[in-house]
Amino acid sequence: MGRIRTRRSSRAALAVVVLAAGEGKRLRSRRPKVMHEVGGKPMVAHVVDLTAALRPERTIVVIGRGADSVRALLEGRATCVVQEPRLGTGHAVAQAKSALVGFRGQVLVLCGDVPLLRAATLRRLVARHRRVGADATVLSMIADDPTGYGRIVRGPGSDLRIVEHLDATHDERAIDEVNSGTYCFDAGFLLRSLGKLGRTNAQKEYYLTDLIAMAAAKGAAACEVLRDPDEGLGVNSRLDLARVELALQRRLVADWMDKGVTFLDPDSAYLGPDVRLAPDVVIGPSVVLLGRTRIGEGARLDGASWLNDTSVDRDAWLRWGVVADDARIARGARVGPYAHLRPGAELGESVHIGNFVEVKNSKIGPFSKANHLTYIGDTDVGRDANIGAGTITCNYDGFRKHRTVIGDRVQIGSDTQLVAPVSLGADSYVAAGSTVNRDVPAGALVFNDKKQMIRPDWVEGFRARARSAASPRKRRRKE
Ligand code: UD1
Ligand code: CA
Repeated sequence: MGRIRTRRSSRAALAVVVLAAGEGKRLRSRRPKVMHEVGGKPMVAHVVDLTAALRPERTIVVIGRGADSVRALLEGRATCVVQEPRLGTGHAVAQAKSALVGFRGQVLVLCGDVPLLRAATLRRLVARHRRVGADATVLSMIADDPTGYGRIVRGPGSDLRIVEHLDATHDERAIDEVNSGTYCFDAGFLLRSLGKLGRTNAQKEYYLTDLIAMAAAKGAAACEVLRDPDEGLGVNSRLDLARVELALQRRLVADWMDKGVTFLDPDSAYLGPDVRLAPDVVIGPSVVLLGRTRIGEGARLDGASWLNDTSVDRDAWLRWGVVADDARIARGARVGPYAHLRPGAELGESVHIGNFVEVKNSKIGPFSKANHLTYIGDTDVGRDANIGAGTITCNYDGFRKHRTVIGDRVQIGSDTQLVAPVSLGADSYVAAGSTVNRDVPAGALVFNDKKQMIRPDWVEGFRARARSAASPRKRRRKE
């Protein structure tokens, strides 16, 4: 009775332990396994972000292989503990012991290589565990292909154990209910039992999975079955990685369709899990949206575009072939075809950026246009300006970047170079083919004094001279 009461009092407390130290040998990679990305995001970040939705009191990540990169990624989001040497999943959880000292409640243990779980599933797992008052609850799934997974062996009554693929008998291997690698433990049970694990098994490792049989021996093991087995897909090989990608992409696209997004070619869309799309967004073929990209209502992406950490406001239109990284595109703007927005590009309302235009670290005011073949770097452009074809801001002197300022309603003729630092006052006009390296006052015309010369009938004479100069040589070559 006393034990049950203690448990009640600590009902809501949850700690999370993510196992992310493994070698990932089967990936044959320089990168640690859990740093491999799905949807453009490292697997371990999927897992940590997912558990954040459950508001755990502590989040501990066990790292090993490539520890520095994992620690840097999770900075501020989790406590990292290093497992060295790596002697299996049970040994990995044991490394979290010191970080769990004094914790009472439930400990959710997850694998850093199982990235597709949903928060609702974890809530269900924890709820089941608390409801039945279990010491250990495992999240299982029915696998199409159980090869490689630990099998769930259900005995009479509440008897339950997990047998690893390599240790399983022929009959056990036929079981298609497998361990997803996700568990909820009573903290007290976990801390008391980890030391009892042995390593007499095919892999000579401390198996975390053996804790299930230990709990079952006291009638305190439970099992929650995943409704959507894709959630439990684990990654051990490149093939698994591709399967997980496919499952994630299908899920994300289907979720966004439910929320009112049109995909012209759903199979070719590639989305990150943190992307947000508004209703009536239309996504054409081969569009990649990554990071914290946001697309506003009614915006349209024709296709073949790559956007990372970019916001596109309502009713903007991205024509074919736009690459944008850390850029802002305001409502009604039109970009492309074939345009490049680099970090810090900010396009105001209804701005037009046309073909073969590159914008970097620049603000372009509302209704301004740069429609053809232009580079705008480190520039502030006012509103209603028109930047002619082939305009280049020369922002780099080999040492430093300099700024260009283009005022409201400025008209820049084609093939102009603006040598920064330089500023064009409001309403000024730049003649075509100008090189501007000194400031231009508002309302002025700027041009370079390049005099146009004409030689009448020059061509005929030139051709005659050229022909006679060429012919003797031709004769010589033939001989
Ligand atoms: C494990 C389970 C198996 C389950 C499968 C689900 C065990 C013994 N087996 O098998 O029942 O079906 O996951 O995907 O637990 N790790 C460490 N330190 C270690 C070893 C592993 O941190 O010493 C981490 C890995 O980084 C990985 C996770 O633990 O994120 C699972 O390890 P892995 O070697 O992939 O175990 P599986 O063979 O897949
Ligand atoms: Ca695994």
